[in-house]
Amino acid sequence: MTDKKPPHSLPLSEAISIAAQAISEVMSGRSLTEVLDELEPHERPIVQSLSFDALRKWVRSHELIKQFIPKNPPPEVDHLLSVAIALFLNENSDGKGYAAHTIVDQAVSACANYDKTVYAKGLVNAVLRKVSLIVQPTEGQNRFAPDPIPMFVPPWWRANLKRHYSKDWQSILFAQAKRAPLILRVNQKQYSRDQYQALLSELGITSNFIDEVAGVKLPSALLLSDPVPVSELPGFYSGAVSVQDSGAQLAAILLNPQPGERILDACAAPGGKTAHLLELANCEMIALELDGERLGKISGNLDRLRLHSDKVQVVLGDASKVSWWDGRFFDKILLDAPCSASGIVARHPDIPFLRREADIKSLQQKQRGILQQAWKMLKPEGLMLYVTCSVFPEEGEDQAAWFAAQHANAVRLGAPGQILPTEVSDGFYYALFKKNGP
Ligand SMILES: C[S@@+](CC[C@H](N)C(=O)[O-])C[C@H]1O[C@@H](n2cnc3c(N)ncnc32)[C@H](O)[C@@H]1O
Repeated sequence: MTDKKPPHSLPLSEAISIAAQAISEVMSGRSLTEVLDELEPHERPIVQSLSFDALRKWVRSHELIKQFIPKNPPPEVDHLLSVAIALFLNENSDGKGYAAHTIVDQAVSACANYDKTVYAKGLVNAVLRKVSLIVQPTEGQNRFAPDPIPMFVPPWWRANLKRHYSKDWQSILFAQAKRAPLILRVNQKQYSRDQYQALLSELGITSNFIDEVAGVKLPSALLLSDPVPVSELPGFYSGAVSVQDSGAQLAAILLNPQPGERILDACAAPGGKTAHLLELANCEMIALELDGERLGKISGNLDRLRLHSDKVQVVLGDASKVSWWDGRFFDKILLDAPCSASGIVARHPDIPFLRREADIKSLQQKQRGILQQAWKMLKPEGLMLYVTCSVFPEEGEDQAAWFAAQHANAVRLGAPGQILPTEVSDGFYYALFKKNGP
């Protein structure tokens, strides 16, 4: 086992203690993205990596904690241990990562950084030494790839998956406990995918095409063999490329924008799909968003990608209401609805810790409100694409079936429906409707 560490700029002990406190914030109901946004720039990469891994490895780390501390430790100690144990459980089977003695020493030092853990040095030391004997081979032995670990989800979530995916529910949880790969969308206004791949390989960054997801051809998706910071991607700041999951890249392709069409992106922030639509065609676009804080992210993305024009408006408004609308009908509508985000857990591993069962019903109501209102704004013969990043049919197929039953003029066209998460795609739901008559 070598002592080669991933690049970072904080002592590991400090990073462990900040990550453990971030986990405590998640357990008290805060989004990890929000917590990470409050960190200093030099703290964020390593704390994000440690806290994401701790949440992904939660099931296994808590089996181990229970094995060695049968009475639950206080939350602060539990969270510190979960961060440290996740370091032992990394997928790296090639000797990258931290040596066992480093993890133990740094976790013990981390106890001293915080009043509520300072007394637990001995306990943390003892538990981690025992864990190291179980999960890491001694010096000189081959390290085998560890068994797959399922993602933690609450019981109601697990029951939902089992009910709807009796064959696939476990593979969904295994896929979601893995680190999500870095996938790019090449801005076709600037480069073809071949050209951009060549630029990457000149810098020694290897990538592969993702040619299709769920039978839909993807012309711009590139999977990086190893993630790199966006600052190392050629042309990133001048809009050559965006980070976007391959499953998300289906939206603009399915809506197939044409020059001059008037398009509504009804739930637009942070603007990933708005930008993709504009990369494909010079259309007239309204990017609508309810959340004023998130609105700025749409403009930021359009600035970076050089996609602003007088035909593009970023509008603060509620898609389930008409108050923001000027009465001009749309040729096409993208409705990427607010949802549980149960399909993108690999990228947001705090989601299963934050969602409550009752959220699903209230999200369903919001989705229906937006579907009803958006349909009224669509031209006859127009297309509306309903999208969620959920694996729960209550937010996907059930909603599409409900909508079709409500609207005699809604014709369902071919679209993938439910896409389950895999190693190269998050989970999404897609339904496409054509308005047949007024
Ligand atoms: C799934 S995200 C959209 C992601 C975005 N389409 C992208 O690809 O970058 C859903 C967005 O809808 C917004 N939202 C929620 N309710 C809304 C409403 N009633 N009207 C407009 N936007 C809404 C949320 O604030 C959130 O930013």
